[in-house]
Amino acid sequence: MNKKFLDLGYQPLANVYPKRYKLNQIKYKLKIQFNTNTKMVSISKRIPSKKMFNSSYPYRSSMSYTMKKSFKNLSNEIKKRFCPKILLEIGSNDGALIANFNKENVIGIEPCSNLAKITEKKGYLTYRKYWNYRLANELKNKHGEIDLIYSANTLTHISNLNDVFKAISLLLSRDGILIIEDPSLLECIKKISYDQFYNEHIYLFSVISVRNFIKKFNLEIFDLKNLETHGGSIRYYIKKINNKNIKVKNIVNKQILIERKFGLDKFVTFKKFAKKVELSKKKLLNILEKLKEKKMSVIGYGATAKAVTILNYCNINEDLIKNFVDTTPEKINRYMPGKNIKIIKYKKNSLIKKDYVFLGAWNFKREIFDKEKKFLKKGGKFITHIPSPKYFNKI
Ligand code: TYD
Repeated sequence: MNKKFLDLGYQPLANVYPKRYKLNQIKYKLKIQFNTNTKMVSISKRIPSKKMFNSSYPYRSSMSYTMKKSFKNLSNEIKKRFCPKILLEIGSNDGALIANFNKENVIGIEPCSNLAKITEKKGYLTYRKYWNYRLANELKNKHGEIDLIYSANTLTHISNLNDVFKAISLLLSRDGILIIEDPSLLECIKKISYDQFYNEHIYLFSVISVRNFIKKFNLEIFDLKNLETHGGSIRYYIKKINNKNIKVKNIVNKQILIERKFGLDKFVTFKKFAKKVELSKKKLLNILEKLKEKKMSVIGYGATAKAVTILNYCNINEDLIKNFVDTTPEKINRYMPGKNIKIIKYKKNSLIKKDYVFLGAWNFKREIFDKEKKFLKKGGKFITHIPSPKYFNKI
């Protein structure tokens, strides 16, 4: 049974950055629920994929050094540890991972044609299609079974999770490996990072829920890695249950014990989390309103989808955060969804004469602190809501 625990109000599509501010932008109620049987956390209203993932999708994996480095390291590990003949990536975005492989050995799946074009131009075979059972069948007929399937921050964006894993199970060879990585529910709850919830993030995985879910598709987790990416993610290494050549590592059960100890299998944990979210909103507004009273100049850094949730849930307007700066060409000179806050092209001197900077891209804190030493040296401060709203100038 699905039980709702958090109401984040009306939210616009997180990754649709309008050219002009529209007072009547379409918004959807964003409520978060916990399934008492499967232990899966998800959003209650599903928006059709075509509305979100189309030819103007602005998110680019290659926009940060942190992500590029993470994909490079993983590629090296995959080559050494699994030596796949063919790697298929579901949600290949602008090719941040596949760029590390030979063109003959990888297949990308990317429904957003603006992104698929980028990998195609570099000569990588890319299917401009949504991942589903029908596509898996088509691929199996064309390429045969695949020995390594990878997907980062994509499967949690697809509503029909049964179809997702049925398709994977069909295409994956008997000894094949599936590697997926997505934000961690445990980290979200620990960090009160309620901004992990927006209309694209349909599910927020825990090891408990993934293990429960994939069993019926003859799949099991045999290894895991905790990652710092996207504010705390988990990389799951998955195999077919009847492949007995690979042993399940202790870390899988250890992580499940940690999650159980934290209460990720109990509804009451999420009710408590919702109370903390309300408090977080009050504290953040308090900080921003005080800075406004003091006539401080405040801008945002990183026009993230996460920041869209915060701005709309907390009702933060241009009087509290004047602009956002961002490096993504697709976002520049557009507006933060739902708000009259313009996104400006990031320049080296963007933070000059700014007093406080709200970290929309808090998940890249280290990279940003490294880049903005001058701002910090001059007494500038960053504002974050993680794990509790505050301003700070040291990591
Ligand atoms: P990210 O946190 O990955 O995404 P989301 O919440 O949307 O899933 O997005 C990071 C955003 O921050 C992206 O628009 C690029 C931007 N950014 C900068 O502008 N400067 C930077 O130094 C970094 C690291 C990111």
